[in-house]
Amino acid sequence: MGPEQVGDWVLDELPRLNQAILHDHAPPDLLVTELSEQVLDDLPDITRLTPEQAQQLVVHLGFVGASVARHYQEHTPGGVTHPERAFDPLVVGGDRLPFRGYFAALAEHTGTGHYERDSYSSLVRWNVGTIRVLLRGEPVAELPGIFDDGRIRSYTGTGGEERFFLLVKQGEAIELAVNCLLLPLTFADADLIGENARLAALRRLFIDFAAQPAEKTMAAEVFMDVFRQFAAHWTPGDIPPSGALDPEALKRDFLLGIDLPGYDQQARRLFPALLASERAEIAELMSGPTLPRRLLAEIGAGDSALSDLDDGDLRRLVAQHPALVDWYRLLAMHARVSGAHLMLSKKFLFKPQRQRDAAGIGDRLLVSNRAGTTGMTETYLDRLTRARQDHTLAPLRPVLIAGKPGSAPDPAIHSDQGTAVPVVAELTG
Ligand code: HEM
Repeated sequence: MGPEQVGDWVLDELPRLNQAILHDHAPPDLLVTELSEQVLDDLPDITRLTPEQAQQLVVHLGFVGASVARHYQEHTPGGVTHPERAFDPLVVGGDRLPFRGYFAALAEHTGTGHYERDSYSSLVRWNVGTIRVLLRGEPVAELPGIFDDGRIRSYTGTGGEERFFLLVKQGEAIELAVNCLLLPLTFADADLIGENARLAALRRLFIDFAAQPAEKTMAAEVFMDVFRQFAAHWTPGDIPPSGALDPEALKRDFLLGIDLPGYDQQARRLFPALLASERAEIAELMSGPTLPRRLLAEIGAGDSALSDLDDGDLRRLVAQHPALVDWYRLLAMHARVSGAHLMLSKKFLFKPQRQRDAAGIGDRLLVSNRAGTTGMTETYLDRLTRARQDHTLAPLRPVLIAGKPGSAPDPAIHSDQGTAVPVVAELTG
C-alpha cells in the first residue's frame, strides 16, 4: 500500500473500525488484523519517501498507533501498565520491522525532530489544512498543513473531533499572528509598543466555541469518553498529545513573562514532544528577559519599582510613557485569554467529571478525566491563569481603570477547510 492508499484507509476505514470496536460491534483484534493485512505489509521503505511524505505518514500512523494503544488497553486486563505490548503483533513490510521502530524512523526522516509517537504537531498542525489569519482583509499570519485535500483526519470520523482539531489550529494561528508582532520587539533596537486586537480574537474564538450548542462543537461526554481516550500512552511515561504542547502559547508566555515557580522546568519536560525548531525557539526565549521587563528597564523602572510606587508616581510614569497603557492592555488580554481557556477546560472536562464523581460514576480507566493528558490539574490551570493576571505591569491596575477604548479592527480567520470563521476583535481593558 502506497502512502496515498494509507491516507484513504485512515480517512475511511480506521474511523469505521474504531466506531465498531467502541460500540462492541467488532472485537479489538479486528483492527490489528485489518491493519496487518491491508496497511502494514506494504508500507514503503522509508528512505524512498520525501520528508513531506514522511510527515503525512506520521500523521496517518499516529492515528493508527493511538487507536491500537487505546483498544488494547481498554480490553486487556493490566494493559494500562504495559501499553507498549499493544504493538507486539504489529510488524511492517517484508523485513517485519516493529511498528514503533518504523514510526520512530519515519519521524526522524521528516527532518523536523518529531517525537516517536503521535503529537500535537501531527494531529493538529500537520493534519488540519492551512489556516490564514486576516486583519482588515489582509493576511497577517499563515499556519500551513501538509495535506491539500481539505479534509481533517480524526479517530472516529465525527464532526465533533474535526471541529476540535480545527479550533485548536485556529487558536494556534491567531497566537502565531500575535507572536509575529511580539517577536520583533525582542530585537535590541525595537520600539516596545504593543497591539492586542489579535489576542482578543483568540478569546472570542474560545468563548464562541463554548457558547454554541454541542452539535456545532463537541459534546463534553464525547470529549471525555471518546476523543481524550485516544491520548493513551504508547509506552509508560511518554508524553501524549495535548494543547499544552501548543508552541505559540509557550512562546507567548516566555515573551510576556509568567511568574510561576517551576514553569520553565514544566515547559522543558514537554520538550521531547515538540519539534526541533520549536524547542530551539522556546529555549531562546526562555533565556532572555521578557518584553515587559525590557520595557521597564528601558524607561528606567527597576525590577520591583512599580510595586514600590504610589498612585501619584504611577500616574506620572504612565503620563511620561503612554506605551505602558498598551502594554498593560496586552498583558491583561493575555490573562483574559487564559481565563477563557480555563472556562473551556472546566466546561468540557473538570465540571462534568466532578459531577460524575459526585454521582459515584468515577473516572475512565485509560486517560483520567480528573487531569489533562500531560497531568495538568484544574488547580494548576487556575494557578496559571492567576499568574498571568498577576503580570509584571499589574501594579498599574489602580491607575488604569479599563483604559480608553479605541477602534479595534476585526480580525478574521480563514481556513482552507471551507469553514471561514469571522472573529470580532474586542476592546481590551
Ligand atoms: C474545548 C476546548 C478545550 C479544552 C476542553 C481544553 C482543555 C485543556 C486541558 C484539560 C488542559 C491541560 C492539559 C494537560 O494536562 O496536558 C489544557 C491545556 C492547554 N490548552 Fe487547552 N483546551 C481546549 C482548547 C484549547 C485550544 C483551542 C488551545 C490553543 C489555541 C489550547 C491550548 C492549551 C494550552 C496552551 C494549554 C497549557 C495550559 C496553559 O497554558 O494555560 N486549548 N487544555
